Amino acid sequence: DLIVGARRGSPLAVGYGPNENYLGSDSYALKSMTNKITYLEDNEFCIIKKDEVEFYDAEGKKVNKKILELSKDDQNYDKGDYKHFMAKEIDEQPTTIKNCVNEYIDKVNNTINIFNFPWKRDDINSILLIGCGTAYHSCLMAKYWLEQFTSVDVNVDIASEFRYRKNRFKKDCLYIFISQSGETADTYAALDLCKKNNVKTCSIVNVVESSIARDSDLVLPIYCGPEIGVASTKAYLGMLVAQLVLAKHWDKENKLNITFEDIKSIPNLVKESLKCENEILKIAKGISKKNDIYFIGRGLDYALAAEGALKLKEISYLHAEALAAGELKHGTLALIEDGTPVIVTASQVHLLDKTTSNVQEVKARGAFVIAVGDKNSHKLEKIADQFIRLPSAHEILSTIISIIPLQFIAYHVAKLNGESIDQPRNLAKSVTVE
Ligand code: G6P
Repeated sequence: DLIVGARRGSPLAVGYGPNENYLGSDSYALKSMTNKITYLEDNEFCIIKKDEVEFYDAEGKKVNKKILELSKDDQNYDKGDYKHFMAKEIDEQPTTIKNCVNEYIDKVNNTINIFNFPWKRDDINSILLIGCGTAYHSCLMAKYWLEQFTSVDVNVDIASEFRYRKNRFKKDCLYIFISQSGETADTYAALDLCKKNNVKTCSIVNVVESSIARDSDLVLPIYCGPEIGVASTKAYLGMLVAQLVLAKHWDKENKLNITFEDIKSIPNLVKESLKCENEILKIAKGISKKNDIYFIGRGLDYALAAEGALKLKEISYLHAEALAAGELKHGTLALIEDGTPVIVTASQVHLLDKTTSNVQEVKARGAFVIAVGDKNSHKLEKIADQFIRLPSAHEILSTIISIIPLQFIAYHVAKLNGESIDQPRNLAKSVTVE
């Protein structure tokens, strides 16, 4: 009847139950048993018995700590009629995105609900977006929006790269950390480095009680509810929407040319896009036995391709690679042969011709091309072997919804191959160690 826990670096949380107490790596691990949690700070330790928990600092002095009550979203821990959490989470996206949009957009006054922005916009001359995995991919896309529609410079960094580089920390830079779990060790270490250098920090997270959220100056939640499948789906969309809202909030000159009505239409567009699942079943069959699959796109679609390829490889274990379509000719084109699947998305009108000519290049080498577009992508539709038609929308929204068919491709390929979809080998949902 005794557990001793000590924290240094990775997170640690105590949970309280009836005549039993728990120790876990984060609130997720404990949420199915209790919604009462206490987080340990670095260098604190705790002594847990079934009816009592005591906390101490590094010198062994007793400390009193708050018990946090987390929201109870029990239904989200159940797969319901779904075979996998991933399938459930893909289908939940219209609802989770609606929650996110509703939290950020004041529908009556058409304003953005980010009231607690602690800095003057003029004090910020650059933004650095930092994350890992899917969160990093959401940054790649948001970079285009923030850069194009605000007057600040925007860069993106992988947390595990940022933390070991000799950085020049800038007082007029806003460091934004994106993380579903809010516990990823590399992202947290990057935040910690920024805190030690006294720069402005903001986090975009799903778990608002997480270490990253607790330690940043400003927190923008994505309101997705618990995500259980290791392959992130609804959190990716939530990260995109939160960053789009931030870009809109920044864009006082209205350069973004995206209206509040456009943003409010995202949940419905996502819902419409889910209808492509049946078509994807056929496509998945065609590629499930292939060894190498390429995802290509330009601009926003390159960022999207990176996420599409990651989804496929993490759960289906097929080799998938994302390429900026214009880079094909610098090497990868040599790998395209008869029947090689190439998946292309082309949401940006001004890049459509260029992307179409890249598709011609791979077709000429025998590639089997699967294209995602809308009713205006005639050229692409004409040359693709298979075409997935999504609803037409503002091009920023088109790129956001284009992830839906790519999520389905990954899911159905993995399902056809009998893989363990929610818990892929060698991977973890929250990577709390380096
Ligand atoms: C793990 C997960 C990925 C996720 C990444 C970052 O590797 O398997 O799906 O994108 O961590 O997680 P975070 O919680 O920081 O978004």
